[in-house]
Amino acid sequence: MDKILIINGPNLNLLGVREPGIYGTVSMDDYLNALRLDYPGLSIEYFQSNHEGEIIDRLHDVGFDPFLRGIVLNAGAYTHTSLAIADAISAIERPVVEVHISNVHSREEIRHRSLISGVCRGVIAGFGLDSYRLGIEALLS
Ligand code: DQA
Repeated sequence: MDKILIINGPNLNLLGVREPGIYGTVSMDDYLNALRLDYPGLSIEYFQSNHEGEIIDRLHDVGFDPFLRGIVLNAGAYTHTSLAIADAISAIERPVVEVHISNVHSREEIRHRSLISGVCRGVIAGFGLDSYRLGIEALLS
């Protein structure tokens, strides 16, 4: 069975309660349950961490797995700051799609800059939690 890994970075464990006007009211667990029903033939794995190094370790762990179609990564605020995560994405073989729930380009200027976009397969932002499904579609196409 094909596999996809979704990685969420810092503060995304609070989806559903964190700033619901921006990130919505649905928890990641509930969203993942619905997503997995939509893709019965796909193993959708999930990892969340508030720690930069743990995200890098997980990218290294899965990044050479030939059975992994790719990684859907919402690096949260590390998107805007982490050269180390960008380097990890460059180092691995499997494709990474950068996703954001909010439209980062309509928010504060500091969120307009991404250190990881250039090393990702592409970027999806602004479609709410549906950004993750669109990221999966990009990896499957
Ligand atoms: C986010 C946007 C980031 O700027 C922010 O730091 C997040 C979430 C998003 O999904 O919209 O934590 O990546």
